[in-house]
Amino acid sequence: MQPLEPLILGIESSCDETAAAVLRGRTIESNIVASQVDIHREYGGVVPELASRHHLERIDAVVDLALREAEVALADLDAVAVTCGPGLVGSLLVGIQMAKAIAWVRGLPLVAVNHLEGHLRSVWLEHPGVELPALSLVASGGHTSMYLSRTEDETVLLARTRDDAAGEAFDKVAKLVGLGYPGGPIVDRLAPTGDRCAVRLAPPRMSDGSLDFSFSGFKTAALRHAQAHGLEATFPAGEPDQATRDLLASFQSSVVEFMVQRALTAARREGARSICLSGGVACNTLLRARVAEEAGKAGLRSYAVSRQLAVDNAVMIAEVGRRKFLRREFAGWDLNADPGLEL
Ligand code: KG4
Ligand code: ZN
Repeated sequence: MQPLEPLILGIESSCDETAAAVLRGRTIESNIVASQVDIHREYGGVVPELASRHHLERIDAVVDLALREAEVALADLDAVAVTCGPGLVGSLLVGIQMAKAIAWVRGLPLVAVNHLEGHLRSVWLEHPGVELPALSLVASGGHTSMYLSRTEDETVLLARTRDDAAGEAFDKVAKLVGLGYPGGPIVDRLAPTGDRCAVRLAPPRMSDGSLDFSFSGFKTAALRHAQAHGLEATFPAGEPDQATRDLLASFQSSVVEFMVQRALTAARREGARSICLSGGVACNTLLRARVAEEAGKAGLRSYAVSRQLAVDNAVMIAEVGRRKFLRREFAGWDLNADPGLEL
C-alpha cells in the first residue's frame, strides 16, 4: 500500500546552496541549507568549479543533518527526490549521484525534480488552496518567468526573460557600485534610504505585445548613470553615499513596477484569480508589498512564499517529489543532469 503521507528526502544542489530536507506528507520535518555565498562573494558571482567542489565536500553532512533533525533513518524513507535541472551541470551531478546512491542502497524510488517547479510549488506548500487559475511569478538569480496554472497539475509558460534574470540584474547593479554579493538583499536594505524618483530608468518596450521580461536595459541605464556621476565601485568597504542610494532606490522601484505591471496584465488577460510569488527575488520587501497592493486593488488574492523558502532549498524539491511519488512518476538509474531544463 502506498503511504498517503510519504516520507520524502529532498536534495538540491543546482547552484550555490547545498540543501537537503525531509517532508512527511506536507509537514516540514527538516530543512538544511549550507550556503556557499561566503566562498563566491570574493569573485562577485558563482564560480561553477568551486560550487561543485564544495557541494561534494558538504553533501554527506547536509543529508545526514537533515535526517537527524527529522529524527528519521534512511530505512524510514519512502523516496528520494533530487533536482535534475536547470542549473550548473557539475553542481547538479553531485546531488543526483547522492540521491542515486541512497535510492540504490535502500531500494527506494528516485524522483527527478525541475528546480523551477520547486520554486512554483513552494508557495502552494505554504498556502494550500490557492485560488485557481493562479498566475505564478518565479523570479530568481537564474530565471524570471510567469506561469498559468488552471489546475494544480497543469502549468503553462506565459512569459520568460529575454536576457538577464531579475535577481541577476539586482546582483549586477549592486556590483557596479561596489557593493557586495549577492546584491538583491543589499539593494533591498539600502533602497528605502534613497529617492526612487531621482533617476529615470525606463521599462523596455515590446512592440509585439508579449508579456516577456527584459532586465538588461535597466542594468545598462544604471551603469550609464553610475559612470556619468562617478558612482562606480566607490564603496568597497563602507556605506554608499546619497547619490548611490538614490540610484539603487530608482533601480529597485523601476524593476519592481515592471514586474508588478507584467504580472497584473497577465493575470487579467488569463482570467487568473490569484497571483503567487516565488524564487529568491520574492524576498524583496517592495516587490512583496506592491504585488499584494495591486492584486488587492484588482480583486485578486496574492501569495508570497516565506523568505525562508524563497531562496534555494530542498523543501520545495521534496514537495514536488511527494506529488510525483503519489503519481508514481519515478526516474530511472540513467537520470542525468539537464542544465537547460525548462518548465
Ligand atoms: O532562488 P535563488 O536563491 O537562486 C536561484 O535559483 O537563482 O535566488 C537568488 C537571487 C539572487 O540573485 C539574489 O540577489 C536575489 O535572489 N535576492 C533578492 C533578494 N534576496 C535574494 N533580490 C531582491 N531583493 C531581495 N531581498
Ligand atoms: Zn532557485
